[in-house]
Amino acid sequence: KRGGFRHFMLKEIYDQPQAIEDTLNHYIDAQTLTIRRESMPFTKEQAQQVENITIVACGTAYHAGMVGQNLLEQLARVRTHAQIASEYRYQDTVYSANETLIAVSQSGETADTIAAVRKAKNNGHRIVALSNVLGSTVAREAHAVMYTLAGPEIAVASTKAYTTQVLLFEILALDLGNLRGLISERELQDCLRELLRLPGQVRSVLERAGQVEHFAHSMRMCRDVFFIGRQLDYCTSLEAALKLKEISYIHSEAYAAGELKHGTIALIDETTLVVATATQERIFLKTLSNVEEVRARGASILLITDKEIQNEGQFQDIWPVPGMRDIYSPIPATVYVQLFAYYMALQKGCDIDKPRNLAKSVTVE
Ligand code: F6R
Repeated sequence: KRGGFRHFMLKEIYDQPQAIEDTLNHYIDAQTLTIRRESMPFTKEQAQQVENITIVACGTAYHAGMVGQNLLEQLARVRTHAQIASEYRYQDTVYSANETLIAVSQSGETADTIAAVRKAKNNGHRIVALSNVLGSTVAREAHAVMYTLAGPEIAVASTKAYTTQVLLFEILALDLGNLRGLISERELQDCLRELLRLPGQVRSVLERAGQVEHFAHSMRMCRDVFFIGRQLDYCTSLEAALKLKEISYIHSEAYAAGELKHGTIALIDETTLVVATATQERIFLKTLSNVEEVRARGASILLITDKEIQNEGQFQDIWPVPGMRDIYSPIPATVYVQLFAYYMALQKGCDIDKPRNLAKSVTVE
């Protein structure tokens, strides 16, 4: 069942090119380079009228929602806010007219996410679900559903469900951007053509698993890891920190790179590993200057980037993200950090597929 892999998690990491390809095929017609209208949750009219989107989810799915927030604002210019479902359900929120709620849930059975959906429904909002399980509760409660075609995910730590959720947000944001007149047909085709290359790009990251394993081995004594990045790279950092702590029990935190100096930098010393993700052209140099700040405090630094680096010797390691549009980088960058978490946990002898205290589906509050 594990297809020759030592753990389900590793198998599912390697399932990703296929999961991405299946999801792409479902939503995109590669022949005509168009998005299949019948698979999308917004009609042209709904897309033009939507004013406010709230994304709710828990854990890893929330991190996909953070990517969604960034992409929907950037590409579709819709005001979007990602919120943790357990917070949303008890918040005395101020709503505006024409609200849409997007609930992201691999299982579709997470209690807090279901409660958030029911609250929004009671308030008359339109509900769109992103789920991996056909006919799950969240999917059934929603007015429209987008499914990830990741196949069953067995390991407690989510991998292929996450990258395919991010992929759905890429497709949704491009579609809304196009329907709202911000992305021309021609631009959309260029974006889709490139998106269809994603399975190959993910495969090229998987081919570097040996490098990741080697680096993880060199960091085996490490007790604190900080993941830093800005914007989409911050989302990847959040997901990286969660993956590492949940399966290896190593203390890890994610910080928006510019926030570090407002307190957390006090924790950085020669024993700390800082993993910087820098794939976004617009803010690349800003993140690198934060890297300089932590280097000055003696931290070891791993850089994940698709950009050319001059002073390679200053990094403990560099993991190259295949060159694509910056909006697509979170997917290959995430595959690296999944592998990193896996190999860190492996050398500590952790129960990778069933980490302590965790359940695959959190159906109670
Ligand atoms: C972490 C992980 C969890 C889930 C969360 C939500 O690797 O898997 O954080 O993402 O419990 O689960 P779903 O997506 O099923 O609602």
